[in-house]
Amino acid sequence: QSFQNPFTKEHTPPTHTHVQEDAPVPDRRVLVTGATGLLGRAVYKEFADNDWDTMGCGYKRARPKFEQVNLLDPSAVRQLIQEFKPHTVVHCAAERRPDVVASQPEHSTQLNVMASGWIAKESAEIGAFLIYMSTDYVFDGTSPPYREEDTPNPLNTYGKTKLQGEQAVLQNHPGAAVLRVPVLYGDVQSLEESAVTVLFDKVQHSNKSANMDNWQQRFPTHVGDVARVCRQLAERRLEDSCIKGIFHWSGNEQMSKYQMACIMANVFNLPSSHLRSITESPVVGALRPQNTQLDCSRLERLGIGHRTPFLTGIRRCLWPFLLDKKWRQTVFH
Ligand SMILES: NC(=O)c1ccc[n+]([C@@H]2O[C@H](COP(=O)([O-])OP(=O)(O)OC[C@H]3O[C@@H](n4cnc5c(N)ncnc54)[C@H](OP(=O)(O)O)[C@@H]3O)[C@@H](O)[C@H]2O)c1
Repeated sequence: QSFQNPFTKEHTPPTHTHVQEDAPVPDRRVLVTGATGLLGRAVYKEFADNDWDTMGCGYKRARPKFEQVNLLDPSAVRQLIQEFKPHTVVHCAAERRPDVVASQPEHSTQLNVMASGWIAKESAEIGAFLIYMSTDYVFDGTSPPYREEDTPNPLNTYGKTKLQGEQAVLQNHPGAAVLRVPVLYGDVQSLEESAVTVLFDKVQHSNKSANMDNWQQRFPTHVGDVARVCRQLAERRLEDSCIKGIFHWSGNEQMSKYQMACIMANVFNLPSSHLRSITESPVVGALRPQNTQLDCSRLERLGIGHRTPFLTGIRRCLWPFLLDKKWRQTVFH
């Protein structure tokens, strides 16, 4: 597989097409893996909109916008990084559904651990900064809030593979950054794409009562905010080589899935009496930690970060999925 030269016009991402013929090509290149995914799409956009020469890669959904690269193939990873020679790599690709990881542990380990190690090795070899996306599920949720140096103790296989991925990255690339984030939401292609937006289906079908977890405490975080943190880290790193190691970023509004669902109902003036609060620890599926609140003070001290209020972010990303089109027209047009 061959990749286009980043300096040719053909490679210039669509967001740059307005640039005049003689305008200088940005001299900062970023490679985003998982650019077809929920977070990767936001990261790609954030860098492309801020004057970075941005290359995205995906796998099943890659074409036509992105490069199609199977990260399970170490020679494809090497070629991708050697040919584009990015200054920064943001590694978003992963298997992040805990139940899928539990049922396919070998495949998930290949992607979450082995491929992350290869990306780290290749990035280190060309002197590129690497941001590896990780998760609050590396913690067991028994003594929040968690600082970067607190001892991880993942409860499920997903958390274990992401922690092993962190270790593989930092061993192969001591100058890399690990960015841990909690449950994400944002512009979704379907409601099922995020563990937050998926709740909206049950909210809207108010003729059926719906059990909602009110035990696990979450900090829903907008992908646009995480994308901005990635860009700020990458730009700061160009001036300051101390930007490396583990970082935490998270929204600061604590709520359970039951509370998120009630907020969704409230935002769109929908009934919520069919939503039933379940306060016991869930017994089905992969084990989940109760409260993995992340202490984000390291990034805050660096002046990095942005938080979209949940009400604003959730209204914006859910309204295209509203079933009551008449109501939608009244309110939004
Ligand atoms: N979503 C969350 O709530 C959450 C919370 C905490 C941390 N995180 C972390 O944030 C990162 C991004 O998560 P996300 O929600 O954006 O994931 P996602 O939407 O499930 O996207 C996964 C991405 O990985 C790509 N991919 C899968 N297999 C691949 C392969 N063999 N080769 C190349 N690419 C492959 C997919 O490409 P195709 O679709 O094109 O095949 C897709 O772009 C992950 O590291 C995750 O662990 C996510």
